[in-house]
Amino acid sequence: MIRIAEILKQGKPGDELTVAGWVRTKRELKDFSFLEVNDGSCLSNLQVILEPTLPEYGTLLKRLNTGASLQVNGILSESPSKGQNIELRADRLTVFGDADPLDYPLQKKRHSFEFLRTIAHLRPRTNTIGAVMRVKNAAANSIHRFFQERGFLWIQSPIITASDCEGAGEMFKVTSLDLERLSGKVDYDLDFFGQKAYLTVSGQLEAEVMAMAFSNVYTFGPTFRAENSNTSRHLAEFWMVEPEMAFCDLQGDQDLAESFLKEVFKSVIENCPEDMEFFDQRIDQSVLSTADNIINKEFARITYTEAVELLLKSPKTFEYSVEWGIDLQSEHERYLAEELFKRPVIVTNYPKNIKAFYMRLNDDDQTVAAMDILVPKIGEIIGGSQREERLDVLEQRMLSCDIPSSQLWWYLDLRRYGTVPHAGFGLGFERLVQLMTGMSNIRDVIAFARTPGNAEF
Ligand code: 4AD
Ligand code: MG
Repeated sequence: MIRIAEILKQGKPGDELTVAGWVRTKRELKDFSFLEVNDGSCLSNLQVILEPTLPEYGTLLKRLNTGASLQVNGILSESPSKGQNIELRADRLTVFGDADPLDYPLQKKRHSFEFLRTIAHLRPRTNTIGAVMRVKNAAANSIHRFFQERGFLWIQSPIITASDCEGAGEMFKVTSLDLERLSGKVDYDLDFFGQKAYLTVSGQLEAEVMAMAFSNVYTFGPTFRAENSNTSRHLAEFWMVEPEMAFCDLQGDQDLAESFLKEVFKSVIENCPEDMEFFDQRIDQSVLSTADNIINKEFARITYTEAVELLLKSPKTFEYSVEWGIDLQSEHERYLAEELFKRPVIVTNYPKNIKAFYMRLNDDDQTVAAMDILVPKIGEIIGGSQREERLDVLEQRMLSCDIPSSQLWWYLDLRRYGTVPHAGFGLGFERLVQLMTGMSNIRDVIAFARTPGNAEF
């Protein structure tokens, strides 16, 4: 079946075709009626003209309410009315399914995003969520293309794992034990995997394994965090892109991340012009200028120590006070990217005490070769680092972080046999889509959001 996007792009008056979709609106006039039909292939609707000569005109018209599904056969013709160039004059029309106007929730009016979250099974049919999903698809496609063109191998890291990569203890447990029968101490030897198992928070450790054989690899898949943060930027289930490069240092890591963001934005602007225009007009008027900014301006690069100095000098009062050693809060990150630099900022060399065990210790013994990319509106969008490739330093660091080396013996083996300098980063895919679309809540850039207290649909 031909899709509406293709018809609106290439259809010529006189073409005879069959289209299927859902009614967005109906307007009944004295001599004929209009339908706006959408099939999800693009933001625009196809205008369909129904004339009283159409078989069963009256009956069909009563059924063709917002949300009803149909198939229509007809001839394209030039549209005399403004708003579109072509329209379809119906010769035959079938209704597949009705949508009772008295109870179909998506009537033609503005609905709040909060309300739409309660009907996540129907909201993909709205303009906004439709545009989000098409942009997300284009972004995913360009992410794969970016890495494939550079010879990176796509790897599938496990979803079930025994290791807490980030060491933050925010893992969902995976078990086949009957929780209702358990009381007191649990014997994990008897559990499915014979040990404690979790949903992964990151595919990085496995990506490092693969990078030690294939040099450049990336993961692109789901990750899970049981952190109880009810913010507009946190999900319990989200997708992450994690490239890992052997023979690469922090500088190379930053360079890759910057060109990666630039290219993905460029590609989405090229491939989804109508949807991106929609976001700029309807959601956030800085969407296109933000994209332009990311594509065309060099990112700012500062160290954590410089970031702290800039924050201390700022006339702004922050809710969380600033001193060297603190973890930057979202308000600090946003101030740097949004107000001070007005473009993405890469912050490097954070204090070791606030970062994960695997980051490479700098010569000052206080900071690690970390890098976070901060962007306007969101704050941190990418977190990465050069990895500790020296066995003795890594062992020392794990000891001070209370990570038993028995658990990560295989990770340590990578440093025992043919270790190399290497680096990588993780991009939160939904945060990227938030930045691209200007959508203020992360729950509205994922089809089925999982957040504390929420796993319906
Ligand atoms: O900074 P994070 O925790 O880094 C890692 O997981 C590293 N292992 C990545 C690596 O070096 N390979 O997470 C990376 C990114 C964050 O910058 C953020 O964009 C996103 O993942 N992220 C979340 N997105 C949505 N909901 C959450 N709860 C998120 N937590 C992190
Ligand atoms: Mg981080």
